[in-house]
Amino acid sequence: MTNQKEESTAIRIPETDVSVYQAIFKRRSAWKFANKAVPRNVLSKLISTVAWAPNHRLTEPWRFFVLEQNSKIRESLAQLVYDQMLEETNDTAKSGAYKAKITEPPIIAYVYNLKGDNDFVTRENYASVVMGIQNMSLAAFAEGITVTIETGKVTRIQGLDELLGATQDLEMVAMLEIGYPDEEPTTTRTPIEGFTNWL
Ligand SMILES: Cc1cc2nc3c(=O)[nH]c(=O)nc-3n(C[C@H](O)[C@H](O)[C@H](O)COP(=O)(O)O)c2cc1C
Repeated sequence: MTNQKEESTAIRIPETDVSVYQAIFKRRSAWKFANKAVPRNVLSKLISTVAWAPNHRLTEPWRFFVLEQNSKIRESLAQLVYDQMLEETNDTAKSGAYKAKITEPPIIAYVYNLKGDNDFVTRENYASVVMGIQNMSLAAFAEGITVTIETGKVTRIQGLDELLGATQDLEMVAMLEIGYPDEEPTTTRTPIEGFTNWL
């Protein structure tokens, strides 16, 4: 790991034919992934976009824990998820479905926020982390990869922080499922005019 700063003027920008608007409007969450590995260099490129999200006071609050397919921690986590869901629901099918959220995506990543000295700064930092995730999601779209955000039970597993090595100064933001999608979900939105006041 290097903590040496990069200059904004010196960034090497990856080539793509995908426009910003295509990425914004065509990016979709997906929950089924093709059996195709995401190369480490591509994944690193996607994660690198997070660092360029706006962040007040340059707190750089994003912390990533990446679990690749063969990660031993991922195996332990899958078992932890299964056991805790079974205890909660007494339902093996449901517990298996939650476990699959950990085992099936080619990559999962837990994203944490660095807490500030007060709630306001923590909130600002959190906003920056989420902007970083969106950077990554849009860049992923340009690579044909999906980044699906999860803030459900898979982010609230007892012992998760300890297993990942997330320290007390961090708070959970989301788990990301990352891979080449094997489905093309559609969704809807209300046009923004209904939520905009032009004064
Ligand atoms: C903060 C956040 C948390 C989310 N958590 C979950 C989740 O726990 N489970 C899930 O199935 N989808 C989750 N999603 C994905 C949304 O369901 C998805 O973004 C929504 O259906 C709109 O689809 P789109 O991303 O393709 O536009 C989450 C999205 C966001 C932004």
